[in-house]
Amino acid sequence: MKAPPTNILSVVPFFLFLLISSHSLATVAVADVSVYESFLRCMETNTAPEDKISDLIYSPTNPSFNSVLQAYIRNALFNTSSTPKPTIIITPTKIPHIQSAITCTKAAGYLLKTRSGGHDYEGLSYVSDSPFFILDMFNFRSIEIDVANKSGWVQVGATLGELYYRISEKSNVLGFPAGVCPTVGVGGHVSGAGYGNLLRKYGVSTDNVVDAQIVDVNGKLLDRASMGEDLFWAIRGGGGASFGVLIAYKIGLVPVPETVTVFRVEKDLEQNMTEMAYQWQLVAPKTTKDLFMRMLLQPGNSKTKKGEKTVTASVLAEYLGNADSLVALLGKEFPELGLKKEDCLEMSWIQSVLWWGLDDENNTAALLSRELQSIKSGKRKSDYVVTPIPKASLEGIWAKMMESGKTGFVFNPYGGAMDEVPAAETAFPHRAGNLYKIQYSIGWKEPGVEAEEKYLGDIRRMYSYMTPFVSKNPRRAYMNYRDLDIGTVKRGSKNSYAEGKVYGDKYFDGNFERLVKVKTAVDPNYFFWNEQSVPVLPGKVEL
Ligand SMILES: Cc1cc2nc3c(=O)[nH]c(=O)nc-3n(C[C@H](O)[C@H](O)[C@H](O)COP(=O)(O)OP(=O)(O)OC[C@H]3O[C@@H](n4cnc5c(N)ncnc54)[C@H](O)[C@@H]3O)c2cc1C
Ligand SMILES: *[C@@H]1O[C@H](CO)[C@@H](O)[C@H](O)[C@H]1NC(C)=O
Ligand SMILES: *[C@@H]1O[C@H](CO)[C@@H](O)[C@H](O)[C@H]1NC(C)=O
Ligand SMILES: *[C@@H]1O[C@H](CO)[C@@H](O)[C@H](O)[C@H]1NC(C)=O
Ligand SMILES: *[C@@H]1O[C@H](CO)[C@@H](O)[C@H](O)[C@H]1NC(C)=O
Repeated sequence: MKAPPTNILSVVPFFLFLLISSHSLATVAVADVSVYESFLRCMETNTAPEDKISDLIYSPTNPSFNSVLQAYIRNALFNTSSTPKPTIIITPTKIPHIQSAITCTKAAGYLLKTRSGGHDYEGLSYVSDSPFFILDMFNFRSIEIDVANKSGWVQVGATLGELYYRISEKSNVLGFPAGVCPTVGVGGHVSGAGYGNLLRKYGVSTDNVVDAQIVDVNGKLLDRASMGEDLFWAIRGGGGASFGVLIAYKIGLVPVPETVTVFRVEKDLEQNMTEMAYQWQLVAPKTTKDLFMRMLLQPGNSKTKKGEKTVTASVLAEYLGNADSLVALLGKEFPELGLKKEDCLEMSWIQSVLWWGLDDENNTAALLSRELQSIKSGKRKSDYVVTPIPKASLEGIWAKMMESGKTGFVFNPYGGAMDEVPAAETAFPHRAGNLYKIQYSIGWKEPGVEAEEKYLGDIRRMYSYMTPFVSKNPRRAYMNYRDLDIGTVKRGSKNSYAEGKVYGDKYFDGNFERLVKVKTAVDPNYFFWNEQSVPVLPGKVEL
């Protein structure tokens, strides 16, 4: 240590500084070490010695801590030195490790965050302002496909890409309706509904779940029969994090044809884009269930042929049929698109998964990669649209997009199967009556708070601008597009029900109260807490 300065005036503050800083640092370190030591002892007492549980638990002093933590961070916004870090990371390989982790975390008085694929847009599976541990489920990744029974057991730490790959290994006429990005984890995705380009034919992932395994707050392993229909209902759209630790889902596989057709058609403002976008709202949610047409709206750097600033609209489609019938169908229903046979690509379902997710329909092996395609900071928000936005208003939106600069939209059509499942059938409530869902999207590579504030401001202004055009009372949102702007619950709040109702009504609409009842029954002391958890009924005591 450097000798203290001799100037008498500076000595006192220096000593004060030394006292305060070394004292508080030492206290934190000692506290963390003793938390780790006693947690480890608890885990060792509760698990088999041959499991070498100490190898599966990481404290910040472990040289592998950072790489384990970062392996499933998927948003650079939560990968900074100021992002709050867990006190301990547990990487279980067997169910008893999870059961013990719940018991021992409770004993330590810490918060437990469960992470599967780490794709939460707000990082809720690995960040918290309250002291916390992470239960990292990446080892639970087995996938068993049973073609004869058109079903499969998938563990939560498997990725969607791995699931699609394993299905396609066994059959070219079976698929599963879930998300587009192959690195998304099954645990968060399926529990929060999960949708992709089979949505209009087969609904959300959750609609195709037939059984599940979960460890509850008492460390009990439950399946559908032993958890009962209320909890089984809740973990289909209500998320997993409020209810326990999910281990696996049993899914039903769905038929897909040997040949599907995809296309991407792009227009800008010089190409009658507004006509096309307006008509998209009338056709995409009403056309045959075999057709899913997403519309992507992007502002920014693109220019028309004349060199003027513009917005582009791209329609991307998955059609469960061949190109000839698709061109004929859209020639009739959607002439504004101007689809030609040359725009269409015919391929197998698994190739279409690759075309959507990785833009390379031939690289099947890429589905098994867990590497990120690009590392960015990002923010997402969501809305539901129930009446078509008039042409003049669409033009206002384009102008706002050009002014704002970076926020893009994905319009995802509903209708079809989404109109057929009653809103109370599962915890996911957004069904008949919705024309489409909007995802707001912004991404950036610049580090630092200044960039963060600029881009977050951009997407929030756009969200505010859209208020007149989207669902109201409540303004609804999709839970898997996690957005803390719409409300949070404070840790230890006496008001958690009222706070939870703010975002709960938006995510769960008419299903919120039933979720609260299930939560109160299965976790009355509110051990499974997060910044947007389902609250317990008022009057219940928190841990
Ligand atoms: C690049 C990208 C593309 C996406 N594409 C789509 C898409 O096409 N369709 C779509 O519907 N969504 C999409 N999403 C959103 C995605 O579905 C959600 O972020 C989903 O929750 C991610 O699941 P995860 O397991 O990867 O996330 P995690 O961050 O691990 O978990 C998300 C939430 O679930 C909880 N959780 C995770 N595992 C468990 C468990 N085993 N038990 C209990 N609780 C658990 C976490 O605590 C957290 O609250 C996308 C997200 C990203 C980043
Ligand atoms: C997080 O940071 C590490 C090291 O600084 C880096 O290797 C990794 O790619 C980053 N991940 C994300 C998603 O930003
Ligand atoms: C299919 O499921 C049924 C009922 O669960 C079961 O009895 C049967 O053995 C299964 N078939 C195969 C091939 O596993
Ligand atoms: C736009 O629409 C008008 C009127 O329907 C038509 O005359 C014109 O050719 C279209 N332009 C393009 C680029 O498609
Ligand atoms: C995939 O393979 C087909 C057939 O060989 C080829 O026509 C097509 O261009 C390939 N696609 C890509 C993206 O390379």
